[in-house]
Amino acid sequence: MSDPELDEMFTTAIEVAKAAGQIIRDAFHKEKEVDIKMNPADLVTESDQAIEKMVHSRISEKFPNHRFIGEESTAESGEKHCLTDEPTWIIDPIDGTTNFVNSVQEVSFSLGVMVNQKTVIGVVYVPIKEEMYTARLGRGAYLNDKKLQASKITDLKQAVVITEGGSSRDAKVVEDKVKNIHALITHSRGIRAYGSAAVNLCHVAAGRGQAYVEYGVHIWDFIAGALIAAEAGAVVLDPTGCDLNPLRCRILCACTPEVAQAMSQWNIRGRRANFEEL
Ligand code: IPD
Repeated sequence: MSDPELDEMFTTAIEVAKAAGQIIRDAFHKEKEVDIKMNPADLVTESDQAIEKMVHSRISEKFPNHRFIGEESTAESGEKHCLTDEPTWIIDPIDGTTNFVNSVQEVSFSLGVMVNQKTVIGVVYVPIKEEMYTARLGRGAYLNDKKLQASKITDLKQAVVITEGGSSRDAKVVEDKVKNIHALITHSRGIRAYGSAAVNLCHVAAGRGQAYVEYGVHIWDFIAGALIAAEAGAVVLDPTGCDLNPLRCRILCACTPEVAQAMSQWNIRGRRANFEEL
């Protein structure tokens, strides 16, 4: 894929992120129409659906041969998504829907573009805070116009670790998450949960935390933030320490390889085989 084509895709990604941000801002302080998906911890609003439709139509108009994976269309069709070598736009219209429903500011629009199964563009927009995070493969990561650099901390004891409860309410999954959180609190400086995987990854990219780990997240939640964090110098892996598989619903991101290694050592503890299925 040529540089001018990628430039055009990047410009379009920013444009649709801004348009999505406007829809989020307009609805943020209003009463939301909320539907439950998998369980009462897994929500969708009319704004999630409106943004996804708008983005899909703009992208298919401009790039008719490109593929599209969106959180809400996947939920509606129930179809499993797969990755091919074709250019693929992967979006989460509102990452942090529970925050959005509660008018909490950590609400983001997340868009990643993969070509030949490599992420080449990542855009995460947090419209309520006017924070536009962007990255292109090999070209660094930015918050608005400021270049991002992840923290240089190498000792997990000095690290703030971000993690989430997630939306599964399966008893074993919850039990294992609690065990992992126990290990993380014991071995780190503290834990945080901002309620949006994309925002969590951008916090690591911006040095506002040193690591993030989550099981049960999807490609649309993390693919853009993962490129932003990696381009800011962070390490992005599977929580076991292996290469990240974007379809495996789990991610570990750390500011340095040393913190990643320590995290994978402790985070594996207490993890049952059923996490493999998430
Ligand atoms: C959710 C957020 C949350 C994470 C959940 C995701 P959504 O995405 O990223 O932080 O813990 O696992 O499902 O549903 O708000 O798009």
